Amino acid sequence: MKLFAGGVLALAVSLGQAQAQTTPIVIKFSHVVAADAPKGKMADKFKQLAEERTKGRVKIEIYPNSTLYKDKEELEALQLGAVQMLAPSLAKFGPLGVKEFEVFDLPYIFPDEAAFHRVADGPIGAGLMAKLEPKGIKGLGFIDNGFHAMSGNRPMKKPSDFKGMKMRIQSSKVLDAQMRALGAIPQTMTASEVYQSLQTGVVDGTEGVPSGLYTQKLNEVSKYMTLSDHGHLAYAVIANKKFWEGLPPDVRTTLEGAMKDAIDFGNAAAKKDNVDAVTAIRATGKTEITVLTPAQKEEWRQVLLPVHKEVEGRIGKDLIEQVYKTTGFGRAK
Ligand code: LMR
Repeated sequence: MKLFAGGVLALAVSLGQAQAQTTPIVIKFSHVVAADAPKGKMADKFKQLAEERTKGRVKIEIYPNSTLYKDKEELEALQLGAVQMLAPSLAKFGPLGVKEFEVFDLPYIFPDEAAFHRVADGPIGAGLMAKLEPKGIKGLGFIDNGFHAMSGNRPMKKPSDFKGMKMRIQSSKVLDAQMRALGAIPQTMTASEVYQSLQTGVVDGTEGVPSGLYTQKLNEVSKYMTLSDHGHLAYAVIANKKFWEGLPPDVRTTLEGAMKDAIDFGNAAAKKDNVDAVTAIRATGKTEITVLTPAQKEEWRQVLLPVHKEVEGRIGKDLIEQVYKTTGFGRAK
């Protein structure tokens, strides 16, 4: 009898071991954009590389387009461990209590993409990611999705054109101040509701990068678009910290490498897709696209730069100064 029990135990142990070797670690990765938007492409690339390089020890499940969670819910879900990875836009970290991230929402803060990368991929970005750790979040890297355009049901050539327009924004006090500076009425709204809100006139317009506007089909419900480059859209790829730190070290290192390559892929896709989206939207013949001249852009800047000063109490004057120094950007007069 003893012998028999011992045999069963040995069998159970070896079955358990075999199972441990064959049951993959599942990572749920949720996001709020289309699978063919740059962030969606980045996520799919990460899945492919991570599964290949861990030889099946890790399985990545991607949930695009808010199918699993919307903006605010997804961050709560990550903290609770219901999903393991996300890539929210940086505007989404203010409501989480890390207001310093709002520096990325300041209008005309980055003269070009290289300036954004100097900030995000240098000590400032690392310092901001560290502020997520007490919230149970591990930052894995930044993705650059390019510059914001305005999209809406009225021509938006000069700041005064925004007077009284209801403009959808992400939940960010800086974006709120930005829209007010233009004379618009900001309306905070989750990404998945924007199409319908534009269609039904709940809002008159929105800001977004061309690839985002196009992949969400927002151009179908906006007659006008202005390439104003007034804001910059970027994401942080993040993981549940406890989960990430509990991964076998070799798996974690492999995933970090896969993420680095997926981010490079996503950044390249964003650059190309923003150009292609403008071409595609123009080709529909249904949206009138305005490209601001340097003089027009200067007029927008003068109206929007005071926002930097207005919100410096939230973000921190020192942090804004550090960003100016890193980008070589001039202070608002
Ligand atoms: C938005 O809410 O407009 C964007 O942040 C969506 C996204 O993730 O690109």
